[in-house]
Amino acid sequence: MAGSILITGANGSLAIPAVEHLLRNYPDHTALLTVRDPSDTDPNTNKLRQVISRYPGARAFIYKLDLTSLSDTHQFANRLSQDIKTEKTSPLKSILCNACYWDLVADSELTEDGYDKTFQTNHISHVALVLGLLDRFAPDGGRIVLFSSEAHSPGRAILEKIPPAIPDDLDLLIKPTVHADKGAAGFHRYGNSKLVITSWTHAFNRYLEKNPSLQNITAVAYNPGGLVDSRIFDKNTSLALSLLVRYIVQPLLPLMRYANPQMRLGAESAVDAIELALDHVYPGERGYFELLQKDESSPESRDEVKQERLWVKSAEWAKINKENTALHSAFK
Ligand SMILES: NC(=O)c1ccc[n+]([C@@H]2O[C@H](COP(=O)([O-])OP(=O)(O)OC[C@H]3O[C@@H](n4cnc5c(N)ncnc54)[C@H](OP(=O)(O)O)[C@@H]3O)[C@@H](O)[C@H]2O)c1
Repeated sequence: MAGSILITGANGSLAIPAVEHLLRNYPDHTALLTVRDPSDTDPNTNKLRQVISRYPGARAFIYKLDLTSLSDTHQFANRLSQDIKTEKTSPLKSILCNACYWDLVADSELTEDGYDKTFQTNHISHVALVLGLLDRFAPDGGRIVLFSSEAHSPGRAILEKIPPAIPDDLDLLIKPTVHADKGAAGFHRYGNSKLVITSWTHAFNRYLEKNPSLQNITAVAYNPGGLVDSRIFDKNTSLALSLLVRYIVQPLLPLMRYANPQMRLGAESAVDAIELALDHVYPGERGYFELLQKDESSPESRDEVKQERLWVKSAEWAKINKENTALHSAFK
């Protein structure tokens, strides 16, 4: 067996074709697929099941993981860790931290852990998952793909009204201030979560590189481009945005690409994400990628002082310490 690929939000727009690409082209891998709702009343989980059923010999398993619960996330990581330790599941080759959440029509909502839901789903719980599973990678290492976005970089995303920024008071990330314009504030929370993920990835790589037993694990912050057929545009957004994307942007995609070559279909980024995760693209490289090109992330995300502050705070939020991660050296 070639190793396991763990994907969060595995019934998402990018993830479903990514799973198909994995099962079709790399059947010797095990697909560990987490979804928020595994029930057979969830239409997206059913689509994922249909994909899996087309590959009868595939080793693909669906698990429930709701990233708005830190205790569920730790429990899931512990169970998987145990299964890999006892050789019930093959060691990890990759983790794709693909799941995401936004709400462009309501104020920030707090999870059971007391964190902003966007920030916990997109960042904090992925930190807990990834740092909790580091010692379950195959001896020859692997790659962790953290999903960034152009939204991490001020002035790029068309929906941006408030530029993403790392606040001096980092607690404003977990309890953001309320803003009269819900759409602006919701996209700001999303952009900030992507900025923090990108910044954190740089710090993560520094610690991985310094650790002799983990230095063959690489982390990449990956901007998959603007996915015009994503169901994200139908969820927690205004009707106007949903209709605009469905009836104007999608049909005009061939033209839109001239103006912005990063606009594409989820299935295109799905292939790239798997190839990146399997280390077939820029093997052994770390850092920020736009589509499949190595690139520089935003200036603020490259500020090492901010990266270090976020590193420490993220571990605290995610309840990670030297006792529950193999990256002991990164914590006092
Ligand atoms: N779409 C774009 O244009 C775009 C652009 C740049 C970057 N990205 C990034 O690319 C990645 C994939 O995007 P996408 O367009 O495929 O998004 P999507 O279709 O909205 O899928 C998001 C996935 O995350 C899951 N999810 C949401 N809340 C969750 C929770 N609490 N626990 C566990 N899973 C949860 C969703 O499941 P449920 O539906 O069950 O909640 C869904 O499976 C994301 O990280 C996104 O930020 C996307």
